[in-house]
Amino acid sequence: MTVRIAQISDAHLGASRDPFGPNFDLAAQHIRDARPDLLLATGDLSLDGADSDADLAAAWARHAAIGVEWRAVPGNHDVGDEAALGGRQPWNGARAARWATVAGPRCWLHDLPGWRLIGLDTQSLISDAGQWDFLAGALADAGGRAIALVQHKPLTEQGLSDDAVNYWPVLPAPRGRLLALLGGMRPALVLSGHLHMWRDRVGDGIRQVWAPSTGFVVGDRWQEALGEKRIGWVEHHFHADGTHDCVLRDIPLARPHDLGDMPEVYGPLEPVTQA
Ligand SMILES: [Fe+2]
Ligand SMILES: [Fe+2]
Repeated sequence: MTVRIAQISDAHLGASRDPFGPNFDLAAQHIRDARPDLLLATGDLSLDGADSDADLAAAWARHAAIGVEWRAVPGNHDVGDEAALGGRQPWNGARAARWATVAGPRCWLHDLPGWRLIGLDTQSLISDAGQWDFLAGALADAGGRAIALVQHKPLTEQGLSDDAVNYWPVLPAPRGRLLALLGGMRPALVLSGHLHMWRDRVGDGIRQVWAPSTGFVVGDRWQEALGEKRIGWVEHHFHADGTHDCVLRDIPLARPHDLGDMPEVYGPLEPVTQA
């Protein structure tokens, strides 16, 4: 048996300002036409759900209106980010409560034949100790199923030895804790978003699939190109024998917005510095 899953990410939908809504509407219809068994949204559903009830509620409703059974994990624009990163919207109890009211749990498990999907909030792995109890339990009774982590941030950008502390991947300390919890095992798969790039790569025994955004890319002037800067979604096939394959789906007629050219959305971006 094979389960077909559509992964959608980083829609950045707003209630009053909604520059990426038209691309999302095209993606939504494309996914309806594809008739997947399940839809996964890997964070940044909203333009500014970290501070706006209306944005988070609108973004949630529009994902639900696709009309497919679905699960979602929050992104930094939905619940804020680790306080250790020093950003203007730190993850905290109030932001987590907003997500809980609108969307429900921030971490969850979902079993498929041969697989266990584990949804995590990668913006609070330092701040929310309770998430580790959930994760330990989800791993302990997986019953031999292959493990797929479903999260907003990638586990790494390059490899498990990454020691950079920055906005993009799971931070080194919680990454180490996660690997320690797994013992000598590795997750079979990590599905993420956040970078607004498409990449499907195996490294250090872990296959990581980065879903692109449905809404926009960040041009090379402002973000290093570690994957393909495309607009789209990912179609996954989860097989009962614990294997998996996936393919990028482009969104016909979607506009290739570049956030660097849209300072009115989140402010001007800092150019990347060349080494
Ligand atoms: Fe995003
Ligand atoms: Fe993000």
